[in-house]
Amino acid sequence: MDTETLYLNGVFLPLSEGRVHVEDRGFQLGDGVYEVIKVMNGRLVWPEDHLERLARNLAAVSLADALGGHRFEVVLPELVVRSGVGQGFVYVQVTRGFAPREFVFPRPPHPTVLAYARTKPAPEAADILAGTMLHPVEDLRWARCDIKSTNLLAAVLAKEEARNAGAHEALFMAPDGVVREGGSSNVFAVLGGGLRTHPLNNRILGGITRKHVIEIARREGYSVEERAFTLDEVTSAPQTACEVFTASTTKDIMPVVRIGQSVVGEGRPGCVTLKLLDVMRREQALLVGLAPPPALA
Ligand code: PDD
Repeated sequence: MDTETLYLNGVFLPLSEGRVHVEDRGFQLGDGVYEVIKVMNGRLVWPEDHLERLARNLAAVSLADALGGHRFEVVLPELVVRSGVGQGFVYVQVTRGFAPREFVFPRPPHPTVLAYARTKPAPEAADILAGTMLHPVEDLRWARCDIKSTNLLAAVLAKEEARNAGAHEALFMAPDGVVREGGSSNVFAVLGGGLRTHPLNNRILGGITRKHVIEIARREGYSVEERAFTLDEVTSAPQTACEVFTASTTKDIMPVVRIGQSVVGEGRPGCVTLKLLDVMRREQALLVGLAPPPALA
């Protein structure tokens, strides 16, 4: 059985016993950043990428020193072991901490630093092959989506709307029809044999999975353009020349078969998508010391 362990401000304790102050700025103001790191075979997947992004995000919100004294490269693997997690994820959150409620920063801040590991099965092959459905929504988030902030209300509302529409994920759309990203994923299209995805800027999160998809695709000989595409381009492309997939830590690569009322491509996972997912699954298995998984299709 899992014994979910929390790392809170330098101390390990049972997750259920973790407490933060009511006036923690993460709770009251969403004044914090977070990370989600995949765990396979009891090992972290691409931890350096995630910790580097966390450091960048902390600097972006003027909390660059918050991790001083917290050795996450040691703490996070220890959490995974203490929690007995084989397959799952580690969640990390750093807030500006407790201070009597004021908008401006407390000086000095007393950041709240926490992390825990949780078991979560990897997506089933049958679910991957059934494909995922996206629900397009207007992107009502703030203009610094490159920061992995705990201010997630717009994403919470969008993903709930998607669920109520019978879809699996929200698709954040710009007013001009450009596809930005998913509610908690990046989005790729395969158009005419090459990959397209929104460029890195303030409108999307620079996903770690996105980065690895791009590297894998280029290595496999596909062209990749970090150039935005529109929903129109996807829905009007010839059936056989279009694929769409999402990329995220929690779901790896997920083939998209429907966006709103429109069927994507041939309405089933495309061969480029499945090829990239197979290569990614093999790479991750190798990284964590597992036997290569069988090909999906
Ligand atoms: N979310 N875009 C958004 C808005 C996200 O929230 C996420 C991840 C991604 C993909 O990033 P990565 O490949 O680094 O996971 C893109 C995580 C999984 C979450 O909030 O649970």
